[in-house]
Amino acid sequence: MLSVRDVSAHYGEATVLQGVSLEVGAGEVVTLVGRNGAGKTTLLRCLMGLHRSMTGAIRLDGRDIAKLAPHKRCRLGLGYVPDDRGIYAKLTVEENLTLPPQTGPDAWSLSKVYETFPVLKERRRQAGTHLSGGEQQMLSVARVLRMGARLLLADEPTEGLSPILVQQIGDIIRKVKEHGVTVLLIEQFVERALGFADRAVVLRHGLVGWEGAAADAGEELLAEYLGGETASTL
Ligand SMILES: Nc1ncnc2c1ncn2[C@@H]1O[C@H](COP(=O)(O)OP(=O)(O)O)[C@@H](O)[C@H]1O
Ligand SMILES: [Mg+2]
Repeated sequence: MLSVRDVSAHYGEATVLQGVSLEVGAGEVVTLVGRNGAGKTTLLRCLMGLHRSMTGAIRLDGRDIAKLAPHKRCRLGLGYVPDDRGIYAKLTVEENLTLPPQTGPDAWSLSKVYETFPVLKERRRQAGTHLSGGEQQMLSVARVLRMGARLLLADEPTEGLSPILVQQIGDIIRKVKEHGVTVLLIEQFVERALGFADRAVVLRHGLVGWEGAAADAGEELLAEYLGGETASTL
């Protein structure tokens, strides 16, 4: 579904990604892991068209999208959940869900969102800011599904990464997958992410250091690539 070939990215003189290649198949959940500063957020921003200082090829269903503006990638089925979640804090849950333009043929109806995430229905009249971390994450994911995302690019929340929140993110991703949505998810709590991901891609110093079935990502390997940054130490 998504094919990334030799993507490099820069901030001024600094090269942050140095030729990243990876594939995400339709219906897969792939987790992108790596130490702080490895380039995970930058890679997702490149895929979405939000970081333009890059080279390399990005194909979605065989189509070259590397030069397209973000809203055009959105129309083709890419959805981005930023690390700050990108929801409108002062608007209600329902306003957050009705505001985004429903573009593609795959855009979820409000009733499909509420069936899949009943908590959002219960809280539909509450302001975004009054939601828990897990509910905000749910709302953020639901917003991009409303916009017709077939491939979700989800960054980890920067704050409040409690074990319970990680559990909730896992539940959200599982539900989304059941509906046939493909997911590329950045996750710090590696061991837990591996519990619901099909494959893992490990970034190190702006390069893919390892990739494979989540089941094959043993502790030794993760310790080598991620050092102390694992669930047990965070
Ligand atoms: N806006 C920016 N300007 C300059 N350097 C940046 C900027 N954003 C990120 N970086 C640098 O790029 C590298 C990768 O960052 P990032 O993609 O955020 O990594 P990760 O998400 O894996 O923690 C880091 O060294 C970081 O300091
Ligand atoms: Mg990041």
